[in-house]
Amino acid sequence: MYRSLRLLIIGSLVLLLATLIFGLIASWAFLYPETYNKILPFYQLRPFHVSSALFWIISGATASLLYYKKGAIEPTSKWNAIAEATFIYLWLLSIIAIFTCYGLKIFGGREYWEFPPILCIPMLLSWIALFLAYFSQLIRKAGEKPMYVWMWSTGVLFFLITFIEQNLWQIPWFRYTYLREITVQWKANGSMVGAWNQMIYGTSLFLMVKISGDERIAKGKIVFFFYMLGLTNLMFNWGHHIYNVPGASWIRDTSYIISMTEWVFLIRMIQGFKSKLDERKKFRHLIAYRFIIAAEFWVFMNLLLAIAMSIPAINRYTHGTHITVAHAMGTTIGINSMILLASYTYMLDIDSTKVGIRRMLGGCYWLAQYSLMAFWLSLVVAGVIKAYGATIMEMTNFQEIMKPVLPAIKAFSLCGIGLLCSLSVIAVTYIRYAATFDIKKK
Ligand code: HEM
Repeated sequence: MYRSLRLLIIGSLVLLLATLIFGLIASWAFLYPETYNKILPFYQLRPFHVSSALFWIISGATASLLYYKKGAIEPTSKWNAIAEATFIYLWLLSIIAIFTCYGLKIFGGREYWEFPPILCIPMLLSWIALFLAYFSQLIRKAGEKPMYVWMWSTGVLFFLITFIEQNLWQIPWFRYTYLREITVQWKANGSMVGAWNQMIYGTSLFLMVKISGDERIAKGKIVFFFYMLGLTNLMFNWGHHIYNVPGASWIRDTSYIISMTEWVFLIRMIQGFKSKLDERKKFRHLIAYRFIIAAEFWVFMNLLLAIAMSIPAINRYTHGTHITVAHAMGTTIGINSMILLASYTYMLDIDSTKVGIRRMLGGCYWLAQYSLMAFWLSLVVAGVIKAYGATIMEMTNFQEIMKPVLPAIKAFSLCGIGLLCSLSVIAVTYIRYAATFDIKKK
């Protein structure tokens, strides 16, 4: 189990590196298709990049959960350990198979999961192994469970449900009408994000408890209320993904109101943590703490964008522009990746390493934040220009629409270099530490 868990931690960080490299090359392929179409075209680079990003997040979330649950829900039987190792090996092998298919230009599947659907079978089996390992261990643990255990459990359960739901298109009835298929697809995609957010926010809550030393953060009625709010979001906020599909307006209204509440959950959680943390402890866990604070900042920024995008009248203009891409990358980099880096910083005890290394990581941290800000803003600007051309100016020629957008895309690509340099130094440093740290500790 320990060997496989180390492999999952290192594998997830390698996926982060792959995300950054493929992302940057994809932006060049988008800007200079004449050159890149001959070597690595955008249609091939995009699935490489997006799949690496999703797998980095899901693998990082499960690695954190498997590592931290050791302390939270003992005991682990030999059977659990075998099931967990089965999950890890099957999961990683499936990812290797998926990238091999992309490399050979063998595609299939649907948006974000563009590999031959047969590969969903090992992925599903691996998740079932994780599900059995996790819940069989959980039910043996008596007594009140802290909120992070509830959140991890919700994430593991709902990922399984939404993964199956996302593959329903393989049953001919769901493909029978285009609208039915797209509605189910986007509903499942929206809820799946909610599922991995539960695992990641659970880890963030666990870290706050450990760093502050205050178990009350994860217990009590108010925390439970906020958890229920998060769960309601997971189940019902997907409606804003299908605004453009003809459907009942009450579904839009309900999902709009619900999607505005999810962010309140995380903000409240982090603020509760900050208010309890004394200066000394803040200093000691500086890098882990900084990543959590960064996630809080990006929650605020993405909240502003999400509020705007979820208003149906605005969504009509922004849909299919780079504003959607800004929303997707702003949340996966700014919130999910920052919390996962906080988790690995704590797990690998980076805050106790040599001053020189901490200084270097601190520099990379700031470079990442500033680059991400400029990166995100250029995408928003690109989206506004495109929306203006396509809807207000009613342009129909794609080349014409994209002409004024290109300078913003060039700025985005340039900022991507800053993001790549900073986050890859952090990822490589963490890989080095992950290869040797005492995984049995904690
Ligand atoms: C941890 C880092 C990153 C994560 C988690 C991430 C995540 C994502 C996600 C989820 C998408 C899909 C967006 C959508 O369909 O709306 C995407 C698209 C994309 N990303 Fe990233 N990304 C990262 C870094 C980068 C970097 C450094 C670049 C370099 C400029 C980049 C360039 C792109 C491009 C060109 C697309 C395709 C946009 C399109 O289809 O129009 N990404 N990324």
